[in-house]
Amino acid sequence: MELGQMVWFDIGIGYPIPGEIVHSSGKSMQIRSSVDGKIHKIRDSSGVKVRHDAVEDGIDDMIQLRDLHEGSLLMNLKQRYEKSQIYTYTGSILVAVNPYKMFDIYGIEMVKQYEGQLIGHLPPHLFAIGSGAYARMSKNNENQVVVISGESGAGKTESTKLIMQYLAAVNKSANNTVTEQ
Ligand SMILES: Nc1ncnc2c1ncn2[C@@H]1O[C@H](COP(=O)(O)OP(=O)(O)OP(=O)(O)O)[C@@H](O)[C@H]1O
Ligand SMILES: [Mg+2]
Repeated sequence: MELGQMVWFDIGIGYPIPGEIVHSSGKSMQIRSSVDGKIHKIRDSSGVKVRHDAVEDGIDDMIQLRDLHEGSLLMNLKQRYEKSQIYTYTGSILVAVNPYKMFDIYGIEMVKQYEGQLIGHLPPHLFAIGSGAYARMSKNNENQVVVISGESGAGKTESTKLIMQYLAAVNKSANNTVTEQ
């Protein structure tokens, strides 16, 4: 592999981390971590793998990642988070990274934008999940479930409230008791 090649390499933390080859001689290499900029000396480079998805802003649906492992998922979420993109799809699953500060992305303008849109047509957003569930409920007359899971403090309660707000905003039933309820 050439100097400047973006790679995945193992530093013994259970999953590979991303980096760039800055020096190479025989089987040994020096790799600069893309996570913290530190240089790691690798004695045996046989486990070093090419990194395919080294785009700066990350990818908004992780199903499209070519390298799929814990390190690549975490790196993609980190890259997006650093650009204030807290939502990322994995297919029809939405992954949210708690920003611990309110972004101005839950207003009525955003509700209107996502209303009636299929998942994947617009950038990943909680309202796309609400919109999908609402559309299937009203078209197919079927009850819907939105599963929200995550560790303590991940944002489950906040996300639930935001989805409820979305549903209250788009609800068009004659006796509008949804908001009250
Ligand atoms: N989408 C968001 N935007 C901004 N802040 C958020 C968002 N989601 C969560 N937070 C912040 O993170 C805090 C913790 O989130 P929340 O209470 O929803 O976590 P939780 O997953 O319900 O935790 P627990 O399992 O302990 O009940 C919230 O009080 C809020 O300040
Ligand atoms: Mg909670």
